[in-house]
Amino acid sequence: MSDIFLRAFGRAPAVEASAPGRVNLIGDHTDYAEGFCLPMPLDLETSVALAPAHAFRACSEGMGTTLVFDPFGPPRGDWTDYIAGPLAELAKAGFDVPPVEVSVCSSVPSGAGLSSSAALEVATLRAMLALTGQTLPDGEVARLAQAGENNYCGVQCGILDQMASAVGRPAQALLLDCRTNTGRLVTVPPEFHFAIVHCGEPRRLADAAYNARRQATAEAARRLGLPALRDADAGALSGLTDGEMLKRARHVVTENERVLAAASALEAADLWRFGALMNESHVSLARDFEVSTPALDRLVESALDAGAAGARLTGAGFGGCIVALFPPDISDWWPRVAAGNPAAWRVGDGA
Ligand code: GLA
Repeated sequence: MSDIFLRAFGRAPAVEASAPGRVNLIGDHTDYAEGFCLPMPLDLETSVALAPAHAFRACSEGMGTTLVFDPFGPPRGDWTDYIAGPLAELAKAGFDVPPVEVSVCSSVPSGAGLSSSAALEVATLRAMLALTGQTLPDGEVARLAQAGENNYCGVQCGILDQMASAVGRPAQALLLDCRTNTGRLVTVPPEFHFAIVHCGEPRRLADAAYNARRQATAEAARRLGLPALRDADAGALSGLTDGEMLKRARHVVTENERVLAAASALEAADLWRFGALMNESHVSLARDFEVSTPALDRLVESALDAGAAGARLTGAGFGGCIVALFPPDISDWWPRVAAGNPAAWRVGDGA
């Protein structure tokens, strides 16, 4: 890490900080409806090194040049926005944000639905806080990171990714309540083996479709006279007459129930129950929320055929990854999955 900084800026960095990507085990498209999710940090992470400078400049691994950016000016429209956005929010919150040179290296694949953006945002905030000798609770770091992505990068994401990266702990799932922005750590039993597989297709048209889903759920809550879909139960949904809106809302309501049931299954070490909930989640994301793709559906089917107790797309959908839960006696699943999905690749193991 220091090598990248040294090569780019000709000196050693003053501080380094890192933050992990995440896999969401269950509970997608619930965070912006103030619902529940169950992410777990990955052992893949993004590291950020900083030193004070006269202007803001950034470089990342493999880049020949450095880029000038400005948290107090307009976004550049590239990856440096995920550094500038959180720094802009840190300054708005009254913290010191002096100009810095920044180097970034990451083992979190980007565009895979594994929160590479949140890892960069959280690592940036941690590095700036370390440099300036300031402190912030992890939950606040997550909130500023999300605000940076919303306000500076123009991505209307919820808080799932940033909370998982900032508050999550290795080998523990985080039962996240996105209304209160609080989380409870749930230990993952050693026999729960989560595998993450990329379908080989990047996320496509994800921003527009994501924002449309978000608007549909907000509108559904408005029509039901509720603050958020978090407050709806299955009975309340009969108040929705628009077929597509009903499907979107039904996903959110049933997914929230599945997350709470899945956290209990994890605590009870009930692997097959957890797997069944993952399967229901995928069907709901595919049919009601319509964020799956043929490649993701095929990969989920292949994982189940190879012995998984459950499998589902993870993250926003529209491409990217699935997460599959394999019982301890299944060890030969990968060649079988790979045979039917030639473009797929293994990202790494979540636990
Ligand atoms: C993306 C967003 C999150 C969340 C997921 C879907 O990862 O950044 O806030 O909405 O999609 O669960």
